[in-house]
Amino acid sequence: MVMFKVARVDTTPFDGQKPGTSGLRKKVKVFMQPNYLENFVQSTFNALSAEKVRGATLVVSGDGRFYSKEAIQIIIKMSAANGVRRVWVGQNGLLSTPAVSAVIRERVGRDGSKASGSFILTASHNPGGPHEDFGIKYNMENGGPAPEGITDKIFENTKTIKEYFIAQDLPDVDISAVGITSFSGPEGKFDVDVFDSASDYVKLMKSIFDFTSIQKLISSPKFTFCYDALHGVAGAYAKRIFVEELGAQESSLLNCVPKEDFGGGHPDPNLTYAKELVARMGLGKSSSQGEPPEFGAAADGDADRNMILGKRFFVTPSDSVAIIAANAVQAIPYFSGGLKGVARSMPTSAALDVVAKHLNLKFFEVPTGWKFFGNLMDAGLCSVCGEESFGTGSDHIREKDGIWAVLAWLSILAHRNKNNLSGGEKLETVEDIVRQHWATYGRHYYTRYDYENVDAGAAKELMACLVNLQSDLAEVNKIVKGICSDVSNVADADEFEYKDPVDGSISKHQGIRYLFADGSRLVFRLSGTGSEGATIRLYIEQYEKDPSKTGRDSQAALAPLVEVALKLSKMEQFTGRSAPTVIT
Ligand code: G6P
Ligand code: ZN
Repeated sequence: MVMFKVARVDTTPFDGQKPGTSGLRKKVKVFMQPNYLENFVQSTFNALSAEKVRGATLVVSGDGRFYSKEAIQIIIKMSAANGVRRVWVGQNGLLSTPAVSAVIRERVGRDGSKASGSFILTASHNPGGPHEDFGIKYNMENGGPAPEGITDKIFENTKTIKEYFIAQDLPDVDISAVGITSFSGPEGKFDVDVFDSASDYVKLMKSIFDFTSIQKLISSPKFTFCYDALHGVAGAYAKRIFVEELGAQESSLLNCVPKEDFGGGHPDPNLTYAKELVARMGLGKSSSQGEPPEFGAAADGDADRNMILGKRFFVTPSDSVAIIAANAVQAIPYFSGGLKGVARSMPTSAALDVVAKHLNLKFFEVPTGWKFFGNLMDAGLCSVCGEESFGTGSDHIREKDGIWAVLAWLSILAHRNKNNLSGGEKLETVEDIVRQHWATYGRHYYTRYDYENVDAGAAKELMACLVNLQSDLAEVNKIVKGICSDVSNVADADEFEYKDPVDGSISKHQGIRYLFADGSRLVFRLSGTGSEGATIRLYIEQYEKDPSKTGRDSQAALAPLVEVALKLSKMEQFTGRSAPTVIT
């Protein structure tokens, strides 16, 4: 057995190692500076209580982006030096974010060990490659992201760090081959356990969904399917689940080979970046020839996000979570006993609220960030939740889950079509399901405008002006009517604030809301996940109850509110942008 020693290395702090909504994200070249990653990892060890480090089992893996392999070797060596007993690594360093959560919660090592936390190496939906982003975040033993108490401590530690510990004479571990390699250090044995990235996750999915009924749907000659991993880590799961378990054809998989640079693309599943899928589904200007598939979906780099599409049809994430909640009990075995409650983030449309009311379910509106759902789930208050930012999930883990969302939709389709898979009758499609949902619950027309990488000072000023304006609703209404007389009155305006019902913590300044008398909303927020400049997000929503009016084109229906939002915020004046970077 190879023996290693522990080296103490002197270091000095780096500025700006504050973990954002989902960990520390910076350009690769920033992470590659000597000691940069090491400082953050040691600061994390120092922020955790001793028993979470000494003798512990930690998961280290990620979405496979550029610099992951080097980072994994560094973290293995630092874990060994800090007294960690075992490091679990997904084969080739690949684990999706939801799979990490599942592995922490479910996996039992050969010697009966359980993991108590994880370093996840991802910058989620941000591009990867030598000139793009890298990221790292820490998840706790419930499988969810570290709470603010811990991330604040990590940040404080990064400001004063003087030394870190790293194993000397520990060779790089071959993470391409499954198996356990043991080493011996000053405190005893240290193992690196490289395991299959998909098995635990697949097992969990099979315990939640009825794979037999989904398989019948997929094998029906009337159903066609397409999945785009955008060269992210979802590819490592897609083949196993959709092809091997559920019988989809290999040709239904697009961009399912994980790549360090995501093939040069932007691995974010939306109508702008998932170009190939969007074209294949018959949407957008460059739609491909031939009949589009009945169902399409995409994931982001670390596979926690999802986009759901029907043939020539886009399902907004806000509608998606509402529709999953409305159908979960009938269509998904895991929920057959009923839903404990449902939750959405504040900027997500109120489609879920209407379902919760109809079904008499507990309902929560939380700030943006999955960790707020985690608290509710740990307390048994919430089963299904979702965000407008293409995140959907449930209490099976403590992260959002891109493949889970696809399986949820396939389950709904399988359930609705169970007597209809053979024979001449037309299948009930994604579009049919959404339109029926609108007919029952009303429709929340919804769009989001993103202004990426704008000047941070200008973004702050724009937000400050909007907050200022809120103190005088009469003035606001005068301005609004001056822009467009068709929209209803602004009845209320505020900055969203949240008191966590479980731990009582209060989160302030979570977005600026203008609430209209007819239920329409304008929400302005600064993104917490960018790595350069500021990103302003503008969320626009309008509720239509009348079933004869739920079929309009969304951008046309929302045009008056969009005009009000842009002029009220003086968007062009502050940002110099005449159009958003992305519209979803
Ligand atoms: C991450 C978080 C989500 C959040 C999203 C958008 O994906 O996990 O919970 O909704 O980022 O964040 P942003 O601050 O960029 O709008
Ligand atoms: Zn992600």
